[in-house]
Amino acid sequence: MIGSHGFWGPVRIAKKMHKMTLPAIALFACIYSFAILFAGVTVWFALRTLPLDSFREIAMIASFLICFVFYMILAQRVLIGMRPLPFGEIEQRTHTEFTYFVHTLFFLFIFNPLIETSLVPIPLRKVLYVLLGAQIGKNSFPSGVLTDPAFVKMGKNSIVGLQALVVPHVIEGDRLAFYPIEIGNNVTIRAQSMIMAGAQIKDGAIIGAQALITKGTVVGENEIWVGTPARMVGKRGGQTQTSSGCP
Ligand SMILES: CC(C)(COP(=O)(O)OP(=O)(O)OC[C@H]1O[C@@H](n2cnc3c(N)ncnc32)[C@H](O)[C@@H]1OP(=O)(O)O)[C@@H](O)C(=O)NCCC(=O)NCCS
Repeated sequence: MIGSHGFWGPVRIAKKMHKMTLPAIALFACIYSFAILFAGVTVWFALRTLPLDSFREIAMIASFLICFVFYMILAQRVLIGMRPLPFGEIEQRTHTEFTYFVHTLFFLFIFNPLIETSLVPIPLRKVLYVLLGAQIGKNSFPSGVLTDPAFVKMGKNSIVGLQALVVPHVIEGDRLAFYPIEIGNNVTIRAQSMIMAGAQIKDGAIIGAQALITKGTVVGENEIWVGTPARMVGKRGGQTQTSSGCP
């Protein structure tokens, strides 16, 4: 039965869930305002002398938006550099909870909208995720959403498919925690699957479309997992148990 003996011990009697605080909102609003200011000043100094005629305004607005996002990424990295978010449970009314709230506001207001609305084209997502702290190897492409990139490590030649979700945080009632997710080399995670906190997907594994890899699951090398919750159905290289015989 779900929840009777969860991956991180028995589910607790629910206390109040974490609640966003005013100081966290105020700090984020302050950073946001400074990013707007810096972006405006940068664009003004960089482009004011350009003879762009009727395209001048368009160029200024586009440059402003790019600069704004760049300064927000920079601010987020500085914040997390100064106050790193540790793995594990986050208690209420602690400094770590405060950092988590500000970190979350960055994602809710800036980074998630950019990714979920595909404003950042898929080939450029990797760049954004790496700037936000993800470790992503050569020739790997996360087309889906990595909700907390700094907690995601991806090897070489791996793919996270369209609309897949890689979610290193846990929010269950009053429980709030981060557990890193590791994706090995040559891993294929198909469209719309969800990889939960603490999961490890070893080299060569395949996760089928719409599969749910639950918290802390270890998918072994070359294993093929499908379904909700996902279960192993075979191995690459001849030991497949699927009826179609693919791949
Ligand atoms: C449903 C949920 C609360 C259960 O957590 P839990 O009590 O710690 O459960 P476990 O991960 O130990 O799993 C217990 C069993 O339920 C199954 N299970 C877990 N989540 C499931 C889900 N969403 N659907 C179907 N089965 C699920 C597991 O496979 C496991 O089955 P088993 O005992 O046969 O191996 C948790 O899986 C969940 O969905 N959490 C939300 C994650 C989250 O915060 N996401 C980000 C939000 S933005």
